[in-house]
Amino acid sequence: MKDLGNIKPFEKRVWLASPTMHGEELQYMKEAYDTNWMSTVGANINAVEEEIAAFVGVKYAVALASGTSALHLATKLAGEALYGPARPNEGTLQGHKVFASDLTFDATVNPIAYEDGEAVFIDTEYDTWNMDPVALEKAFELYPDVRLVVAAHLFGTPAKMDELLAVCKKHNALLIEDAAESLGAKYKLNGKWVETGCLGDYNCISFNGNKIITGSSGGMFLTDSKDDADKVRKWSTQSRENAIWYQHEEIGYNYRMSNVIAGVVRGQFPHLEEHIAQKKAIYERYQEGLKDLPLILNPAEREDAIPNYWLTGILINEDGMSPMVRGEQDFLYTSTPGKSNPHEIFAMMQAINAEGRPVWKPMHMQPIYRMNKFVTAAGNGRGQSNAYIDRGAATDVGADIFRRSLCLPSDNKMTPAEQDVIIEVIKRAFA
Ligand SMILES: Cc1ncc(COP(=O)(O)O)c(C=O)c1O
Repeated sequence: MKDLGNIKPFEKRVWLASPTMHGEELQYMKEAYDTNWMSTVGANINAVEEEIAAFVGVKYAVALASGTSALHLATKLAGEALYGPARPNEGTLQGHKVFASDLTFDATVNPIAYEDGEAVFIDTEYDTWNMDPVALEKAFELYPDVRLVVAAHLFGTPAKMDELLAVCKKHNALLIEDAAESLGAKYKLNGKWVETGCLGDYNCISFNGNKIITGSSGGMFLTDSKDDADKVRKWSTQSRENAIWYQHEEIGYNYRMSNVIAGVVRGQFPHLEEHIAQKKAIYERYQEGLKDLPLILNPAEREDAIPNYWLTGILINEDGMSPMVRGEQDFLYTSTPGKSNPHEIFAMMQAINAEGRPVWKPMHMQPIYRMNKFVTAAGNGRGQSNAYIDRGAATDVGADIFRRSLCLPSDNKMTPAEQDVIIEVIKRAFA
């Protein structure tokens, strides 16, 4: 690791993205306590469902325990819509493939496995760091029977939804939008600006502690379909039928949001735009401070998208990378003058008590999904080298981004002075 000179560690750790509270949260939580609605029903739940549905521009929001539970029930709904209800011990996607974002958090894709489906991972594009519409089209050529796609907006930067939706429409497929990281990001769909979270056939957001606004945990299912909203609400509260005793005809889940958690979300929601403005300022400060280094930042604003700037990451140019190798859980690098790599910068962040993290490891590289299919813009992404024929390096955008990138501290509470120190440390990494 390079020399930090006289730079001292921060006394208080500077985080990637930690909760930023404002006071109103406590008031709504206390209201839940004072009125004894310490349950999965209550005024806070009703209020956040109404407010967030109106903001995103959908008719219905169902508040759930997490973004993961929202994605699970969205995936199950899609499975039922496509293939019919399943037996209690079987998932709705049994025997079916589903196309899914590759460069994302595993919560996007695990619900496919919960429902007994097989995820086929679709490679990423450099423009957005999201699902590549060209690779998606290729995937339909390879697997024309597929009818479901799950797409995420990484780090709050919208995917090219116009193109992804057009490919889905052409192949008669449904789309689940994972907007867990992108609440407040805007997308120009058919020339009209809309919020992310209303773009798919089924839409999900998250209020995890690290998100742009948080409930400490929590998530939502968003839809224009009353039937889907009613079904998700029923499933999320143990699938009770209309009887005075506990009567069940469908498998149920305990996935509803608590009224206390909803109080936190309710107090946070008025601060969404303020959080986005802070995150954007952080992104722009990094952009300015790091502009002379051999790197770029993760994709941000473009003609058809305004991100929520949830997380800033760097992508080191190939010629700025010092030698580095990675195993599954270990790594080795050579510190080289004028160059650096994600691990060197990570180590320097650790040394000053700041958090860093390599960009999400692509799903097709994860041991749990190592045998799943993977499709790139060039076609099948597995087994593309040949011991006897030199074919050059295979296309794998996700793996390339993962290898060269690092998420930087992007916390709302980070001060400009702290960020200046972080920028200086990154400069020293390239000294
Ligand atoms: C892209 C993505 N999808 C889904 C989730 C899951 O949300 P939750 O943690 O609320 O279950 C997260 C974050 O945690 C995420 O980043």
